[in-house]
Amino acid sequence: MRSTGSATAASDANARRHRVVAVAGALAALLATSSGADAQSAAAKGTGRSATKPTASQPAGAAPATATKAEYAQRFATVCAACHGADGRSETPGTPALAGQHGFYVITQLFLFREGRRDNPAMTAVAKTLTDNDLRGFADFIDTLPPAPPAAPSTPTDPARMARGQALAQQHKCVFCHGSDLAGGQQVPRIGGQREEYLRDALHGFRTGKRPGYTQAMIEAVSGIPPEDLDTLAYYAARVGVSAAGK
Ligand code: HEC
Ligand code: HEC
Repeated sequence: MRSTGSATAASDANARRHRVVAVAGALAALLATSSGADAQSAAAKGTGRSATKPTASQPAGAAPATATKAEYAQRFATVCAACHGADGRSETPGTPALAGQHGFYVITQLFLFREGRRDNPAMTAVAKTLTDNDLRGFADFIDTLPPAPPAAPSTPTDPARMARGQALAQQHKCVFCHGSDLAGGQQVPRIGGQREEYLRDALHGFRTGKRPGYTQAMIEAVSGIPPEDLDTLAYYAARVGVSAAGK
């Protein structure tokens, strides 16, 4: 969908807003069920994997949630780690690190991929195979992965470019939502320490409309920012240190 005039742009924006509302309703329904209750109902229906044996450190009452976590840790290692890296520390260009990402943000994005609202051939193919339980299970598991320090830079960090990036992040209120350390929270993703080329693609994607976003927040945030400033913001965010305090 490419808009050619302001009237088309306005109706595009309208159509987008309506889709956002519809998606929000379906996502709200998905988020309403807690994962604990889910594991139990899956087990009752016979669809859950067999529960792990309770151990001394895991009281029997906590078994369903523990079983779910172990199951998704295993599935993450066999399915997701090939692209996203062991423990979500991606070493693949174009593939984001998931370590340190927030559960609420993750479940939302998995949902958007599955519903075809966010599109990437590799990731959409995976998301199409996931059930609601899977969305919750993977999001809960990823939420437990500690953030990784930014990858060692291949070239020395340019202090002037970092200062410019920091100033842009203030000026455009990126820090207002993503936090001064860019660690995000809840539905706002961690961007500090994320892969640079992925951040760059994401920012350009929001600017050109290639990536719709769950809300208009990012589209509004980047509109009017020149492409070279988006590159500087990606450069800066990728190199912002991860605080030892974690989440
Ligand atoms: C074949 C490679 C591949 C596999 C396997 C894969 N992913 Fe992805 N994933 C990607 C790519 C590439 C992107 C970035 C897509 C984009 O640029 O929009 C992505 C994006 C994501 C995102 C969005 C992250 C963000 O910061 O917005 C989440 C969450 C995610 N994947 C979770 C998973 C989970 C959970 C699994 C396993 C069930 C998985 N992925 C398996 C390639 C993969
Ligand atoms: C009003 C709050 C808000 C502001 C301001 C904001 N963001 Fe965001 N940002 C979000 C939300 C919410 C998302 C999740 C995207 C979605 O809607 O699906 C996001 C997503 C992103 C992503 C994608 C991360 C990923 O893992 O895919 C990047 C990169 C990003 N923001 C960078 C920025 C930068 C740089 C700025 C300043 C120019 C900025 N944001 C300003 C709220 C905000």
